[in-house]
Amino acid sequence: MKTDATFWDRIAPRYAKRPISNMPAYEATLARVRNYLKPSDRVLELGCGTGSTALLLADAVDQYVGSDFSAGMIAIAREKLAASGRSNLEFVEAGAGTGAFEGPGFDAVLAFNLLHLVPDLEGTLAEVHGLLPEGGLLISKTPCIGEKWYFRPIIAVMRAIGKPPFVVTLKIADLDRAVAGAGFEIVETGFYPEKSISRFIVARRV
Ligand SMILES: C[S@@+](CC[C@H](N)C(=O)[O-])C[C@H]1O[C@@H](n2cnc3c(N)ncnc32)[C@H](O)[C@@H]1O
Repeated sequence: MKTDATFWDRIAPRYAKRPISNMPAYEATLARVRNYLKPSDRVLELGCGTGSTALLLADAVDQYVGSDFSAGMIAIAREKLAASGRSNLEFVEAGAGTGAFEGPGFDAVLAFNLLHLVPDLEGTLAEVHGLLPEGGLLISKTPCIGEKWYFRPIIAVMRAIGKPPFVVTLKIADLDRAVAGAGFEIVETGFYPEKSISRFIVARRV
């Protein structure tokens, strides 16, 4: 079981080439996120991977920082950024929950397909809370793989052969509770795709 970035560094080139698995669901998610972003916003994305989502959302805000603990992912994101010519976006190599950012410096913190991968969910959510002013938003989408029994044996086998990164088999209720418990009011939830375990949460810092 790896909690470091080695796994992600190794798969970064393949991850960058992988097509979006469900484009309508992805676009629906982006539309919901855009609904909350303002042109004056400073946004931090945690676990941004190769920066595809950051490049699509940055035009909606004033400043956008994409971060990821994988140097391989960030290197590809920076290449894509250079090709895009966008000037209000930067990519930084930084782990979620490591105190890499100072708050309250952001109006919104985004985390897509990340929260099931952090070893200390409560600590990460506490950090996000500290990065936001009162009323600031945490917008996340998280596969709650604890909802499907068959993920447990798959993960156990993969761990045994040293394949996957650290993964938490979160249930939807656990995730909602953790977000609310970290000092957020949940203002919107959903699933994209609709019949999935991919929990979308918009939460306001109280
Ligand atoms: C499943 S990918 C999701 C990438 C992107 N957000 C997306 O939705 O396509 C997970 C990403 O989170 C990053 N990651 C995993 N654990 C992390 C951590 N503790 N801190 C920062 N990034 C992390 C990985 O390097 C990887 O780029």
